[in-house]
Amino acid sequence: MRFSTKTLFLPVVFLLTVLTSHSQSGPVFTIQAGKPLFDIQPTMWGIFFEDINYAADGGLYAELVKNRSFEFPQSLMGWKTFGNVELMNNGPFERNPHYVRLSDPGHGHKHTGLENEGFTGIGVKEGESYRFSVWARLPEGGTEGKIRVELVDPQSMDEQHAITSGNVAVTGKEWKKYEVELKSGKTMDKAALRIFLVSGGTIDLEHISLFPADTWKGRPNGLRKDLAQALADLHPGVFRFPGGCIVEGTDLDTRYNWKNTVGPVENRPLNENRWNYTFPHRFFPDYYQSYGLGFFEFFQLSEEIGAEPLPVISCGLACQFQNNDSTAHVPVCDLGPYIQDALDLIEFANGAVTSKWGKVRAEMGHPAPFGLKLLAVGNEQWGPEYPSRLEPFITALRKAHPEIRIIGSAGPNSEGKQFDYLWPEMRKLKADLVDEHFYRPEKWFLSQGARYDSYDRKGPKVFAGEYACHGVGKKWNHFNASLMEAAFMTGVERNADIVHMATYAPLFAHVDAWQWRPDLIWYDNLRVALTASYYVQQLFSTNKGTHVLSLTMDGKQVTGAEGQNGLFASAVTDLLKQEIIVKVVNTSDKIQNIILNIEGLKKQQKLSEGRCYSLQSSDPYAENSVEDPGKIQPKKTEIQPVGNSINTSVGARSLYVMVFKIL
Ligand code: AHR
Repeated sequence: MRFSTKTLFLPVVFLLTVLTSHSQSGPVFTIQAGKPLFDIQPTMWGIFFEDINYAADGGLYAELVKNRSFEFPQSLMGWKTFGNVELMNNGPFERNPHYVRLSDPGHGHKHTGLENEGFTGIGVKEGESYRFSVWARLPEGGTEGKIRVELVDPQSMDEQHAITSGNVAVTGKEWKKYEVELKSGKTMDKAALRIFLVSGGTIDLEHISLFPADTWKGRPNGLRKDLAQALADLHPGVFRFPGGCIVEGTDLDTRYNWKNTVGPVENRPLNENRWNYTFPHRFFPDYYQSYGLGFFEFFQLSEEIGAEPLPVISCGLACQFQNNDSTAHVPVCDLGPYIQDALDLIEFANGAVTSKWGKVRAEMGHPAPFGLKLLAVGNEQWGPEYPSRLEPFITALRKAHPEIRIIGSAGPNSEGKQFDYLWPEMRKLKADLVDEHFYRPEKWFLSQGARYDSYDRKGPKVFAGEYACHGVGKKWNHFNASLMEAAFMTGVERNADIVHMATYAPLFAHVDAWQWRPDLIWYDNLRVALTASYYVQQLFSTNKGTHVLSLTMDGKQVTGAEGQNGLFASAVTDLLKQEIIVKVVNTSDKIQNIILNIEGLKKQQKLSEGRCYSLQSSDPYAENSVEDPGKIQPKKTEIQPVGNSINTSVGARSLYVMVFKIL
């Protein structure tokens, strides 16, 4: 068959017309690239760590032995003993006095020893090494006692039930640390640790510990590598720690006292964890804080992942949800020691090695200061009780450390009576930033894209310190919730002059031991699942830019208000990388054509081919899991500008991050 020029020409013209009119039918976003509006703070997208959901012991902290110092109120919780085992309480570590005494069972065929169950089991990988360590002595003297250490499958009745084993020879009457490395012959997520007395006589054992040799940065007393890597990959600007409600404590005695979390790990006293009993339907009576992951480790991790450290300290108010009675709190006139804790913390982080607390830091291996600049006083506090306590902290801190930026609280709610009361109070007290928290449903997130557009620019800045979209009916990490977070985050970004940082919460959850969901990163003893919300955070933080750009949609300033075709957007530039970055969130269930016009480039400048990251799921309720971690992941494609314009489309229910280099 032959075609004439005419028969070819008409359909081609028709096709071009369809394509052009189709591609131009969507909204036009205009970005003013030449005039950056204001800076984006390097702290902008960060992380918030709290020991909830077994985030520390059993999670990020790589210790595999539960109740290693026998200090749980039920001293042998987590342990099974057999044969002749006695609990003692005059050990070498003043603040952790308990230990066990293993003695000859009195018959050659009997065994004495103990078995630890780990945190919902002990996860081990084939071919990997594990460092067993123990403080031990021969209380009756003698030349040598011996223990055998095994990692076992606790369910196995096989003769070959040991995955690996090693011996430790104990050689003296004085307490000493002994170590043996075990190489696992198998991968198993719920192994157990067994220790047998194999010599006769008596041996005392204290602080029984097992760590993977391959921790984050290879550190002893280190962090689980895959989980720390997940944090590093977020490139967080700020790292808020250690909570959350655990800072306040159910009562003042159980508040988080940073001084208990530094120095040799063997002598850091145990604290209860309020998430042990807060939700009766998620009851974990074996949830305690060993403080093996303490303030030194938090500062060190901040440094390693390039995030500004932001410790939160108690302001003398025990958890107000749990304490109506004013006597539960520290009277304002007695706040002296609490204020001193704050001043000492700054000395611990930044002080000279000759100072009392700077010396502690140096002895722990970090003589250089950590460069602390931010400090939050109080978590979710409210009522007049809070400003009256915050004031003396601020006075003392300003006097001794005017360089420290102080963060106050707007209470537990995103709006309402307490919120409205606290903001003016924070202004009066001249807090540098105010910490807002919101765990809200999809509808709320959709309606808050313009939240910060009208905030007063003159007072304190905003720290969105805890937020997560709790999908209605499904309090999980489904894609739709993450998409709503992304929509909201474009509003945060557009208002980066007032919002200086934001941290999703909570960060971590163990699949077998969580109390609160949704969470950013899930894991079991061996695997990790990064959620769709994680990828949203990562796409924003790794493309955060240095300055906000003006952005209009069809000639009108983008405000983030609902109804702009279900589209939410922000535009920034990275002056260091010479990039323009446009984020578009399509919350509608229609694919939408959009045009991006980049205006204000200098004559000699042009846009290069760009890269586009998209996050999408055809099933809004899909989520990643440890069994199927790759269901929702960002996809990278190339995107071609024509001159200074980009004609493209954004998929139904999607986040698009488009990055163009300026040449
Ligand atoms: O993130 C979980 C909890 O939520 C935090 O501990 C608290 O600050 C908030 O209520």
